[in-house]
Amino acid sequence: MKACIYEAYGPADVVTVGEVATPQPKADELLVQVHAASVTTADWRFRASSFPGGFWLAGRMLLGLFRPRNPILGRDYSGVVAAVGRDVTGFRVGDAVFGATMRGAHAEYVAVKAAGAIAPKPASLTHEEAAAMPFGGNSALMFMRDFGAVKPGQRVLVIGASGGVGSWAVQIARHLGAEVTGACSTRNVELVRSLGAHHVVDYTTGSPFGEGTYDLVFDTVGVTTFAGSKHALTAQGTYLPLEGTVGTMAQAVLTSFGKGQKVKHAISSNTREGIEELSRLVEAGVVRPVVDSVLPMARIADAHRLVEGRHKRGSVIVTMEATKPAPSDSARDHRGVASAFASVVGA
Ligand SMILES: NC(=O)c1ccc[n+]([C@@H]2O[C@H](COP(=O)([O-])OP(=O)(O)OC[C@H]3O[C@@H](n4cnc5c(N)ncnc54)[C@H](OP(=O)(O)O)[C@@H]3O)[C@@H](O)[C@H]2O)c1
Repeated sequence: MKACIYEAYGPADVVTVGEVATPQPKADELLVQVHAASVTTADWRFRASSFPGGFWLAGRMLLGLFRPRNPILGRDYSGVVAAVGRDVTGFRVGDAVFGATMRGAHAEYVAVKAAGAIAPKPASLTHEEAAAMPFGGNSALMFMRDFGAVKPGQRVLVIGASGGVGSWAVQIARHLGAEVTGACSTRNVELVRSLGAHHVVDYTTGSPFGEGTYDLVFDTVGVTTFAGSKHALTAQGTYLPLEGTVGTMAQAVLTSFGKGQKVKHAISSNTREGIEELSRLVEAGVVRPVVDSVLPMARIADAHRLVEGRHKRGSVIVTMEATKPAPSDSARDHRGVASAFASVVGA
């Protein structure tokens, strides 16, 4: 099969398209023929070895100290089940599914855990749109609903409101009943308004905080600090950075004791519950994915460049074109045979 491969950390051009063995699903896995996959900020960070705020060494330990242990990036995908492992129930060959895995989705086929973050593709969405859901949607759901504990009537500021996570955060915070302000640049004002923001701040003409005071400041970009946000937080408001650092981790501990303003440091993960909830919200017309661009697999390096630019709207998607027929159902008989490309990356 064809896959997007990187064998060294570096600029976007280190990712090229090549031929690799098609993975064989284990007994508890599905083989998904990928139709579309998202290139996320996580893929850019993993490719460039660009980790924020003092987490460089931890990132390298996770991915491979000197070179990437796993040469195929890609977490979010949408496609069709091509084969099912022997122990799998609940999925059949031909099912349209979407989900998030740890690695390997920038390829024509990916083997994923059937019990993982995978669900039927919402019927109203294309594969390109469904692949745009897990990373931003799950992160926003966790940061707004769980870590931020957004309540009806609260005032929430989302900085980076047009980005991969921010575009979902605006919609989810509104769904949770908050009065939402989105900060973005001039060209994205209308988009952010269309996502349901009650107020939009154009950060190119002033402060990203605008004039307001907020119960929650959610900075998805890393352009503010807790100290610089205090004036815009209510007395018991929370500063919630998406790009946490060692510093915000310490601030979170220190502010957890008092009754005043707080910092929360959190890391989201992909869960089945999360993507099922997102599916329900999509089907109910409450939220929608934002797709910046759709590029063919051959333009994977351009996709990485777009993501690295940090001005994408929502998600950047690459589409796959299978060149070989799907492996036969005999894949069911392959017990514990994982492709070299499904090796563990610090899972
Ligand atoms: N902790 C976790 O669990 C977790 C989970 C997911 C992601 N993350 C991290 O969170 C970060 C955000 O991810 P993402 O996918 O949402 O990023 P993204 O899509 O690249 O975000 C781009 C957004 O940033 C805005 N932006 C760029 N420069 C800005 C500035 N100077 N001031 C204000 N806004 C600016 C852009 O808006 P304009 O184009 O309008 O400028 C755009 O909307 C990444 O670093 C990622 O690694 C962490």
